Amino acid sequence: MKKNDQLSRRNFLGKITTVTAGLAVAGITISGKQVAPLQDSDPKQWKQTSDKKIRIGVVGGGFGSAFFWHQHPNCIVEAVSDLQEDRKKKLMKVYNCDKSYESLEKLVLDDKIDAVAVFTDAPSHGRHIVEVLKHGKHCITAVPLSMTLEDINRVKEWKEKTGLKVMMAETSLYRSDLYNAKSIYEKGIFGKIVYSEGEYYHPNVDTAWGYKEWRNALPPMLYPTHATAYYIGVTRKRFSSVSSLGFRGSAPRYKNNEYNNPFSSETALFETSEGGMSRINVFWGAEGAHGEVGRLFGEFGRFDKNVLHLGKGIGAKYEGIGDRTQIEYGDNRPPLPPHMDKGGHGGSQGYLTNEFIMALVEDREPLIDVYEAIAMTAPGIMAHKSALKNGERLNIPSFDK
Ligand SMILES: NC(=O)c1ccc[n+]([C@@H]2O[C@H](COP(=O)([O-])OP(=O)(O)OC[C@H]3O[C@@H](n4cnc5c(N)ncnc54)[C@H](O)[C@@H]3O)[C@@H](O)[C@H]2O)c1
Repeated sequence: MKKNDQLSRRNFLGKITTVTAGLAVAGITISGKQVAPLQDSDPKQWKQTSDKKIRIGVVGGGFGSAFFWHQHPNCIVEAVSDLQEDRKKKLMKVYNCDKSYESLEKLVLDDKIDAVAVFTDAPSHGRHIVEVLKHGKHCITAVPLSMTLEDINRVKEWKEKTGLKVMMAETSLYRSDLYNAKSIYEKGIFGKIVYSEGEYYHPNVDTAWGYKEWRNALPPMLYPTHATAYYIGVTRKRFSSVSSLGFRGSAPRYKNNEYNNPFSSETALFETSEGGMSRINVFWGAEGAHGEVGRLFGEFGRFDKNVLHLGKGIGAKYEGIGDRTQIEYGDNRPPLPPHMDKGGHGGSQGYLTNEFIMALVEDREPLIDVYEAIAMTAPGIMAHKSALKNGERLNIPSFDK
């Protein structure tokens, strides 16, 4: 590139200033209103506000053994369960609990238990959540909420009938980048989200792995929540329609499987209730890609890997720092009880533990309540149906109140 070209390109793009959130930005004005870029007022120390103890039963000794119920000052692990003896023993050891049951169905009969953590195989979630609610206990479930619309309807019906709390342990919600994006959105700094991307890549997860081999040729869009969270979890808005395509897996399991599923990877384009677009990828069959990521393009700013890029934009102006800026966000998640671990998946497991227990202590709906959980789950079920119909555009039913 010639020097003059470089100069004119620089003039065209304007000056870019990078700042750390909360320090150098004097203020951002959206449509004439001043907004602060960070939630600086959050307390830095967790404070115990109640002596109440939630007695939890934990079911499922795989991923279910990776949470921190035993470390929370407002929680007691009352009992654990797994159908498999070795996994049951593991749960007893991890949670330092000497009471166990041979199955979830037996555990829910225990009157001492207030709430149950359902970390069983995904195809059983719908049935297990309903079993928990029917027995008068609150429920936190691993993702996805369910794998069929029928199960989702049953969960919603029992949630509304009982008024008990239902939370989905979607780990992406408490990843530091998504958590920041959510507070940026809530302050109006993005405006509406024009377009977003949510991606979940896990090569070879689709083998005969898990209880009764439930992951074997699992339709990717029946496991959408790590990716759909990058729109739904940020905005609490909804997907209204979808068109989706799939890549036909070359492994023999894709010719013949319980799900009648030919696809090892699926891409869906959703219409959003804000009038925007969201592209979701869930891939089992692409080596070299691993993990969960998302990007958001708002009317006034773009967010990617914990950096907010602001432009001069219609209606959005910021003061004192040139004509364009990048704001690098740090970790602004709320404080955890002392001595509580954060765990894996971006350190989200400790936050999910704390959020469920505090929702019960404070008698409020949890951050990822039944409606948010359904909004992250049901669109994937419709996306898989669309992929089986070679991309036919399908409406997504509403399950909101
Ligand atoms: N990032 C994440 O959010 C994340 C990561 C891993 C797994 N998960 C989810 O966590 C859940 C568990 O994952 P996993 O890898 O441990 O699966 P898994 O299939 O290995 O384990 C499920 C366990 O549930 C037990 N079980 C089934 N029915 C039962 C019953 N009626 N009573 C007692 N125990 C019963 C089985 O014996 C098994 O040990 C899955 O739904 C998965 O989708 C989420």
